[in-house]
Amino acid sequence: MRHIFLIGLSGSGKSTVGRLLEQYLGMPLLDIDALIEEECRERIPAIFAQHGEEYFRSYESFVLDRITRTESGAIISTGGGIVTRAENRALMAERGVRVYLQVDPAVAIQRLQAQMERALAQNAVFEVRPLLAGPDPLASLHSLRSTLDKNTEQVAREIIAMLNSSGELETVAPIVRHIKTGDGYDAVVDWGGLSRLGHYLEPLRLPSRIFLFMDSNLEKLYATTLVQSLKQSGFEPHLYVVPAGESSKSLSQLSAIYDWLLDQQAERREAIIAFGGGVVGDLVGYAAASYLRGVPLIQVPTSLLAQVDASIGGKTGVNHAKGKNLIGAFYSPRLVLADPALLLTLPERERTEGWAEIIKYGIILDAELFAQLEAHADALRAFSHPPVPLLCQIIARCIDLKAMIIEEDEREQGRRAILNYGHTLAHALENVSGYGEWLHGEAVSLGMVAAARIAQEAGMFAASDLERQNALLAALGLPVAYHGSVQARDILAKIQLDKKVVGKRVRWIMPRQIGEVVVTQMPDDLVERVVRSFFDEK
Ligand SMILES: NC(=O)c1ccc[n+]([C@@H]2O[C@H](COP(=O)([O-])OP(=O)(O)OC[C@H]3O[C@@H](n4cnc5c(N)ncnc54)[C@H](O)[C@@H]3O)[C@@H](O)[C@H]2O)c1
Repeated sequence: MRHIFLIGLSGSGKSTVGRLLEQYLGMPLLDIDALIEEECRERIPAIFAQHGEEYFRSYESFVLDRITRTESGAIISTGGGIVTRAENRALMAERGVRVYLQVDPAVAIQRLQAQMERALAQNAVFEVRPLLAGPDPLASLHSLRSTLDKNTEQVAREIIAMLNSSGELETVAPIVRHIKTGDGYDAVVDWGGLSRLGHYLEPLRLPSRIFLFMDSNLEKLYATTLVQSLKQSGFEPHLYVVPAGESSKSLSQLSAIYDWLLDQQAERREAIIAFGGGVVGDLVGYAAASYLRGVPLIQVPTSLLAQVDASIGGKTGVNHAKGKNLIGAFYSPRLVLADPALLLTLPERERTEGWAEIIKYGIILDAELFAQLEAHADALRAFSHPPVPLLCQIIARCIDLKAMIIEEDEREQGRRAILNYGHTLAHALENVSGYGEWLHGEAVSLGMVAAARIAQEAGMFAASDLERQNALLAALGLPVAYHGSVQARDILAKIQLDKKVVGKRVRWIMPRQIGEVVVTQMPDDLVERVVRSFFDEK
């Protein structure tokens, strides 16, 4: 990767943002001021006082030039005044990406004040930065023009999103899978592939006008750069933003989307891009399936759950007041582009829940995948500087496994049911506790723990395999014991109710060994005993 230059005033958060980027991108962080102080064995205010600003600026230019000659990229935190020299500006433009951290002057002063108070509390010396020295520091900052305030985590995410959309991330060979349902489509796993979306769309020969959908969280991170990159690829993108969250998977939101498409006079050949997690994928997927009886759909899944599960298999739909996913259709996209680098901006809890579905694939179908997850659980969970090729392989493997099942049973008449391992109890828990308390993946994790215990007590599943499953779930940050307020009787009642609705006995997906499950019925008393001990004996 090229160098990333962080430019901004003192107090703009360069060091904190720099450390976050170092953690996420695994690039070294270099601080020009710190390097100069180390080499001169003097603090910057002293260098200014002794030699003057001109001397300092020349030294700064010299260090900037020296550390950026290297091939491999670094995150370089620059001093506030580095941009005052034209030669520095030209050098940074040539050798990397420049990121200007704007900050509200009042916020910058607050941050510096907090630093000063911390330093005083620790008896350390706090020095006034040269550019901020003077009778009115706030006035001097204003003179350097700055505006924004956000928390540093959000700023780091925005920078990563910007680097990704503009093609600045490292590249690894993309993995392409052809899925043979509907008219057939490619699912591509490509780290940093977001910047190549236009390239992937080219063979589809779509009209230039394209309707881009995302939720309000993704809008803040990706809308500007994604729209720009689609324009550069010759498209004319029109953006529609839905509020983030499950409540957008509603008939009213769907209706608002139809209204908007009709206002735009969207035509049958014009495509819709669903850029988002499972909520956007399901909602917008169904809009694409039903608007004018079906328009081309492109899925760009942005959450781990959507990349390995929701975007593959063609299930689209919205919720109804009476239950989840009750209105919908099977509808194949024309392309799925899963860019795992998008997961760098996904909040940790949402990233963690995605592992539940991945572990599920290991248990139901693939002992080798399961073992691979066990071997790399720590690195995968930490996700700081993720092992990129491994992550891409794991996502592609999950796509393969899901594709294999849905190609056999697209409409869930038989074998596709095994994908629901852990889901009977998960759905009951989500429903009883009210959607939102548990993320889907967290509920699936608990559902798999309880289902495996039923299997083990029935003598179908070895205790050692049960332990391995639970240990892997825990290692990847998922819950393995229930500590909430839901009562077992409510879970059991919900399972009974579903049974009545379906008009038959519950078909349990039971593990026999890691990598193999069966669909079977289980004795009610055993299920009841395990559910009671799981939910009531905390
Ligand atoms: N169609 C299917 O086969 C299928 C399968 C499983 C789940 N689902 C559905 O998927 C939905 C859950 O999906 P989800 O967990 O992705 O939820 P989601 O779409 O709500 O995304 C989770 C959160 O992460 C944010 N987010 C997503 N990607 C991000 C990124 N790259 N950077 C920053 N923030 C990001 C979103 O804004 C949201 O706040 C449920 O509605 C479920 O029913 C569908």
